[in-house]
Amino acid sequence: TTVRISDDALALACGADGVAAAFAAAGCTVERVSSWGMHWLEPLVEIDGLGFGPATPADVTAILDGTSSKAVGRIADHPFIAGQQRLTFARAGRTRPTSLGDYIATGGWAGLTRARAMTAAEVLTEVTASGLRGRGGAGFPAGIKWQTVANAPGTRKYVVCNADEGDSGTFADRMLMEGDPFQLIEGMVIAAHAVGAGQGYIYVRSEYPHAIAKLNAAIALAAEHIAPFKIEVRVGAGAYVCGEETSLLNSIEGKRGEVRAKPPLPALEGLFGCPTVVNNVLTLAAIPHILSEGGAALYASLGVDRSKGTMPIQLAGNIKHGGLYETAFGITLDDLVNRIGGGTASGRPVKAVQVGGPLGAYIPPAQFHLPFDYEAYTVADALIGHGGVTVFDDSADMGAMARFAFTFCAAESCGKCTPCRIGSTRGVELIDRIRSGGKGAPDAVESLPQMHNARKAGRSRADDLQLLEDLAETMKFGSLCALGGFTPYPVMSALKHWPEDFGE
Ligand code: NAI
Ligand code: SF4
Repeated sequence: TTVRISDDALALACGADGVAAAFAAAGCTVERVSSWGMHWLEPLVEIDGLGFGPATPADVTAILDGTSSKAVGRIADHPFIAGQQRLTFARAGRTRPTSLGDYIATGGWAGLTRARAMTAAEVLTEVTASGLRGRGGAGFPAGIKWQTVANAPGTRKYVVCNADEGDSGTFADRMLMEGDPFQLIEGMVIAAHAVGAGQGYIYVRSEYPHAIAKLNAAIALAAEHIAPFKIEVRVGAGAYVCGEETSLLNSIEGKRGEVRAKPPLPALEGLFGCPTVVNNVLTLAAIPHILSEGGAALYASLGVDRSKGTMPIQLAGNIKHGGLYETAFGITLDDLVNRIGGGTASGRPVKAVQVGGPLGAYIPPAQFHLPFDYEAYTVADALIGHGGVTVFDDSADMGAMARFAFTFCAAESCGKCTPCRIGSTRGVELIDRIRSGGKGAPDAVESLPQMHNARKAGRSRADDLQLLEDLAETMKFGSLCALGGFTPYPVMSALKHWPEDFGE
C-alpha cells in the first residue's frame, strides 16, 4: 500500500512524521507530498485518493483495515477543495515537493519553455495583459513593474523574491516554497528573461527552516535547467520590517534592515544600486501559469474589476476549518468565514476578522458582504494585503487588539522616521489612557511628563479621542513605509466598530 502524507511544516507540527513512521513500520510505502491546505485535517493521510485525518499513529491499523472513523472520503472531492479554483496551488497535495519528475509530469517548465520562445517584450505584454497585481499586499501591476526594470538603463539587473511573509495568520508563501518550490523558481527565471536579469535572490525569513531547505534542494536540482540564470537563498534575521522591499534589499546587501526613502524605486535603483524586480512569492509563482496558458485568456478572465486572477486566501485564527483557499477575486467574507470556514473553532459567535495581517483593518460581521477586491477594501478603509483572514470570536477585546497594533509597531519600527518611531509608543499610552478613563496604564507610563500634564490639564476622553485621530492621521500620511503608515488601520477600525471595548 502506498500512503501519502505531507511533509509541510504545519503537518510536521501536527505529528506527520510519527504517523509516517507508523505506516512504514506496518509495511507501507510512504510518499511525502505537499499539503492540500486543509489544516484542521493534518496530518492527513491519503491512500488511493481517499483521505483520513487528523491521523495519529494509533489510527494506522484501523485506516489500513478500512474501519477508521477518521475517513473524509475522496480528498479531491472534499467541498473545501472542490470549491476552489487552484492555479498557483494546483499541485498542492498532489506532488512530491522536490521531485523534478512530478513537476514535469504536472506541466512544470511549460511556461518557461513558451517564454524562452518569445522575446522579452512579448513576455512583458503577456504579463501586463494578465492583469496580475503584486500579491505581497500593495497590488501594484506586475507587468508595469517589470517593464520599468526592462526599460531601465544598465546591464546588471536582479530579480528578488520577497519571501519574508511577516503577516500574522499568513502561510501561503511558506506552503508554496515547501510544497512547490520549482514553480517559484520557474516564475523567477521567466521574470529574469523578461527584464534581462542574470541573478536572483530569494529572501526567506529565518522562521521558515523547512522552506529554506526545500528551496536550496530545488535550486540545486534545477540549476542546469535555469542556467545561465542563478538563484541564491538569503535568510532574514527576524525583523518584520525586512519584508518592506527596501529594507529587504539593505539586508541582502549586508546592511542594517532600515527602510530606504523612495524614490528611487527599486525598479530603477534596487539591489546594489541596479534595476531590480522585487516581487512576492505568490506573484512570481503565478507567472508560469500565465505564460503556459496565456495571460489574457486565463488570468484576466477571472476575478472582478481590476482585481484579476485568483488569490490564495489564508483562513486562520479562531476558525473551524482553517487552511489555504485559492479562488478568483470577488468572494465575500461571509462565504470565507461562515460557509467555507465553518465559523469559529470555539463555536462562539464571530466578532471580527482582521484581513491583511497585523496592519490590516478589523472588519465586523455587518461588512461581511464586502467582495475580496483591492479597490472595494480600500473604499471600506481596509486592505486585503497578502490575503490573510484571521478570525476572532466574541471574547476578543478589540481595545486590547488596538493597543497590540501600536505595541507591534513600536517593537518592529526600524526607527527611521518620527511618526512611526515615536507615534507608536505615544499611541500605546493614549489607548491606555482612553481605556482606563484618563488614568493610563497601571504600570509603565504613569511617570511620563506628558501624561502628567494631560491629567493636570484635565483632558477629557473626547480630547484623547481627537488626539488619537490626529496621531493616526500623522502616522498614515507622514510615515516613510507601510509599517507606520498602516498601523492606524487596525487601531481606528477597532475604535470605530467596537467603541464599547475602549471603555465607552
Ligand atoms: P507601494 O505601494 O509603495 O509599492 C508597491 C510596489 O510597486 C513596490 O514594489 C514599488 O517599488 C512598486 N512601484 C510603485 N510605483 C512604481 C512605478 N511607477 N514603477 C515601478 N514600480 C513601482 O507598497 P509597499 O510599501 O511596497 O507595500 C505595502 C504593502 O505591503 C501593504 O499593502 C501591505 O499589505 C503589504 N505587507 C505585506 C506583508 C507580507 O507579509 N506579505 C507584511 C507587511 C505589509
Ligand atoms: Fe521605519 Fe516605521 Fe518609518 Fe517604516 S514607518 S521607515 S518602519 S520608522
